[in-house]
Parts: sequence; structure tokens; C-alpha cells
Amino acid sequence: MAEDQAGPDLSKGLSLADLPDGGKLVGHVGDEQVLVTRQGSDAFAVGAHCTHYHGPLVDGLIVDGAVRCPWHHACFDLRTGEAVRAPAFSPLDTWTIEQRDGKLFVREKRARPSVKPRAASGGPNRIVIVGGGAAGFAAAEMLRRQQYGGEIVMLSSDDAPPVDRPSLSKDYLAGSAPEEWVPLSPPSFYSDNSIDLRLRSAVAGVDVGAREVALAGGEKISFDRLLVATGAEPVRPSIPGANPSDVLVLRSLDDSRAIIERAKTARRAAVLGASFIGLEVAASLRARNIEVHIVAPEQRPMERILGPEFGDFIRALHEEHGAVFHLQTTASAIDGKQVRLSDGSVIEADLVVAGLGVRPRVGLAESAGLRVDRGVVVDAYLETSAPGVFAAGDIARWPDPHSDESIRVEHWVVAERQGQVAALNMLGGRERFSAAPFFWSQHYDIPINYVGHAERWDELTVERSIAGKDCLARFKREGRTLAVASIFRDLQSLEAEVRMERDEAR
Ligand SMILES: Cc1cc2nc3c(=O)[nH]c(=O)nc-3n(C[C@H](O)[C@H](O)[C@H](O)COP(=O)(O)OP(=O)(O)OC[C@H]3O[C@@H](n4cnc5c(N)ncnc54)[C@H](O)[C@@H]3O)c2cc1C
Ligand code: FES
Repeated sequence: MAEDQAGPDLSKGLSLADLPDGGKLVGHVGDEQVLVTRQGSDAFAVGAHCTHYHGPLVDGLIVDGAVRCPWHHACFDLRTGEAVRAPAFSPLDTWTIEQRDGKLFVREKRARPSVKPRAASGGPNRIVIVGGGAAGFAAAEMLRRQQYGGEIVMLSSDDAPPVDRPSLSKDYLAGSAPEEWVPLSPPSFYSDNSIDLRLRSAVAGVDVGAREVALAGGEKISFDRLLVATGAEPVRPSIPGANPSDVLVLRSLDDSRAIIERAKTARRAAVLGASFIGLEVAASLRARNIEVHIVAPEQRPMERILGPEFGDFIRALHEEHGAVFHLQTTASAIDGKQVRLSDGSVIEADLVVAGLGVRPRVGLAESAGLRVDRGVVVDAYLETSAPGVFAAGDIARWPDPHSDESIRVEHWVVAERQGQVAALNMLGGRERFSAAPFFWSQHYDIPINYVGHAERWDELTVERSIAGKDCLARFKREGRTLAVASIFRDLQSLEAEVRMERDEAR
């Protein structure tokens, strides 16, 4: 039997006894895999795989009429198939269901409703988005999904249309994903949706009073609502000899291409920094059979975010794959192909990549007079100190209802979900940004998922075993779980997300 015909033929009928209330299973209709689930008297049939990276939705969690993906927590409405929360944007297919004689039959696939923009009436005439990244893309997509019929101008200083940035340090860099997979959507998406995407268009200033932005070339563009989503830029090492042409950083598609180009002839690489990006770059270079040395000041990689046990595990995992750590030391100078370390040792490397963290690009917001305090300060609706001007993504510091702190994070899914919420609020909605922060990171074949936000904790409990690659770690402060990190415990990770959201809703 072909893989896409696994499970029962749902068109021939499934006994209700085989699908109890709340249950879900995968079968097929023709050669398509379909997930069926019963929720009370209702039954639903939707595509079995997430439209983000094809995660198996049967392993996900059903909450309030929607299914959440086990891999990166995208969320789909069971009735309509709509991708209601990033990181997925495309809807699931849905099928009609007939219930008869104690059986459930999956019938024909429903046609997808086409979204036609309404004429802008009463709402903003023109929305300008500064930034062609995660938050900017998600906002533009949501504006059109909401049938916003006014103008959308998206200004990006990037050379490429919005890309799947996480892939730039993982599959694309490792050589296991072709470049066609990297754009967030095909080029026709922008023209089909009348999104005026202008690449290589750096915004030099925002005049909040006059409600216009000025491009570096001098052109001015007026706006009725503005979203600032300028992201972050990699920190470059400020040590002797660290010229940008010799020490590469990774943020854009061009950066990733440049590393791949050098990797074609490199034999040995030095990665400065044991951050998520640094470690993912190291793993991808190992996949290309390059000898990798990781240099970092901390005692254990990722200890500050995940604690010592995860730190030891991550180190061992990378060492198992041949990476060499130089910890509790830093690069002090680059001298041709030699990386000199502060402990006196020297690494010979023909490729050097710095993964030293990022700085939020807040300069534009600051010069526009928006309130900035370790990020652009926004309220629960993601509006800045200037009415009608919103901020989202890596630059935004928002009041997080889960930790009761004002936080700024650098996570892909958060940036996209903030873009979506900002879009709704730019159209006059009053939607709070209350999603529990989520990120994932991939090291070789091991995904680490993290929900919540814990900058400090006083208790760390681990269910199962981190070293056994099957665990759920809870980061608590004063008895309250602030964050959960997991390996191959996707359902519990989703349950933790729901608990955090419900606790907030109390
Ligand atoms: C290689 C890599 C891998 C990552 N992997 C993960 C991961 O696995 N999981 C995870 O949770 N997070 C990951 N992240 C982090 C994630 O990508 C970011 O949190 C996310 O992209 C932030 O979205 P953003 O929209 O705020 O900024 P960005 O996506 O960086 O977009 C900012 C945009 O603003 C534009 N811009 C900046 N200034 C101006 C200006 N003045 N005028 C016009 N345009 C401007 C930029 O050109 C860019 O298009 C990764 C990041 C990188 C670089
Ligand atoms: S595969 Fe489903 S959210 Fe990524």
C-alpha cells in the first residue's frame, strides 16, 4: 500500500465506535491523507499534514475547535481549515462528512473560498509596513486575509522577498533543502494580493506627525497606519582582524549563500559563539563534513536559557557529531587563517562565522520619537507610544501576561503572530497579544521546543531524561511554571502552551 493511502479508506465509512468523542485518526480519501476527528456531535475531516513543514497533525492537540501542530504549534480551524495562528499560513483542505447508520463517511473535498479584498471604506487607505521579515510578511498576509482592500506598501532593505529565516541556519545551510523552499511565498503572492513589496528600500526616517516615511533615496510615502518591524542585526566581533569579509554573520539569504559558497572549499571552520544560531551553523557545517570548532565564553552552551543539564546535553550532542568546543574563552584576534583565543591557543580556520547574538534595529523608531526602552515599547495591542503606529517582532517589548513582565524575544513564531495581531488592530480590532512565546531549535536530528519565557527561575524539574533525548523540563519561579523545554514531548509542550494561555485568561 502506498504511504499516502495509509489507514482506512474514509470514503467507505468508518464505524463511530472506532472514533470515540475527542478521538482523531488518519485515513485516506483517494490518494490524500485525511485527519478525522469527533468533537461532541460534530465530526471534521481536514488534511492530515500541517502546511508549514508537513507536521503530522494526528500527533497534535485539539483545542476549542482547532488542531495545533505538534512540531511548531501552528493552529488550524477544524471547520474551515484556516491557519489561524502562524507559523503556517496556508489553510488545510477540508472535506464534507456524512454520518449514517453508526458510520461516518468522508465525502467530497470542499472548494476553498477565494478571498476578495473589499473596497477600503472607513478603514485606513494605506498601510505601510517597514520590514520584509517574519512580522512584516505575516501582517501583510493577514491584512489581505481580512479582506482589507486598501493599499499595502511593504518596504524592505533586504535584497530578497521575505524568506523562511530559520531554514537559513538549518536545512538550507546544511544542503538538505533547495533554495526554492526558502521564500515564504512565491513571487506571485505579492502581485496577486496587490502588496506593493519594494526591496532594497531602506526607510531612513518616520515623521509621525506628518504620517509619512522617508526612504533613503528621499522619496516620501504617506501612511494611515504604520507597522515598524525592522528586526535585529547580528553583532559583529570587534577584535583586531575581524573584517566583515573574513568573519561572516548570518541573518539574510545572502549571508547564508555566502557561508555556503565558502563552505564549498573550506576544510575547517571556527564558529564564534554557542548561541542557537552558532550551534545550528556548526551542525550544518558538520553535515557538509567540515571540521568545526566552537568558541564561546560560557561554561556550557545554552546554559543561561536552558540550564546546566541541557547545556551538557547540547555539548555532548555536538561532540558526538564531531564538533570541538573551546569554552570559557573568546576569540581575541583574527590573523589571516588563524583565530587567536584569549586562552593563548590558536585555531587554523579557512571559514569563520560569528553567532554572537543580535541587536534589535530600533534606530528608526528611536529617531521617530517612539518610546524605546531595550526595544520599542508597545502596549498589549502592539501599538507604540504614537497612535496608529505599531511595532512587532524582534524589536517589540510588550507586556507579557504569562510572566507579568515586559519582554522582548527573538523568536520566529512570536514575530509572525505579532504581525498577525498588529494587522487585526491596524484594521480597528482590539486584540491583545497574549500568545505564550514559542521557539524551536534543531540540532542534527534533535528538535528542542520551548514554550513560555523564563529569564530567571528558582526551580527546574525534568520529567524523563534530557540525555535520553525524551524529556520535558519545567522552569518555575515561586511555584509557577514560566516555561517548558522539551525533546520529543510535543503533546505535553502543546498542553503546557494551552495551560499558560488559560491561566492568563483567568
Ligand atoms: C539564521 C536564523 C535562524 C533562526 N532560527 C530560528 C528558529 O529556529 N526559531 C526561532 O524561533 N527563531 C529563529 N530565528 C529568529 C527569527 O528569525 C527572528 O526572531 C525573526 O525573523 C524576527 O522577525 P522580524 O520580522 O522581527 O525581523 P526580520 O525577520 O529580521 O525582518 C526584519 C526586516 O526589516 C528590514 N529592515 C530593517 N531595517 C529596515 C529599514 N530601515 N527600512 C526597511 N527595511 C528594514 C530587514 O531588511 C528585514 O526584511 C532565526 C534567525 C536567524 C537569522
Ligand atoms: S510543521 Fe506544523 S507548525 Fe511547523
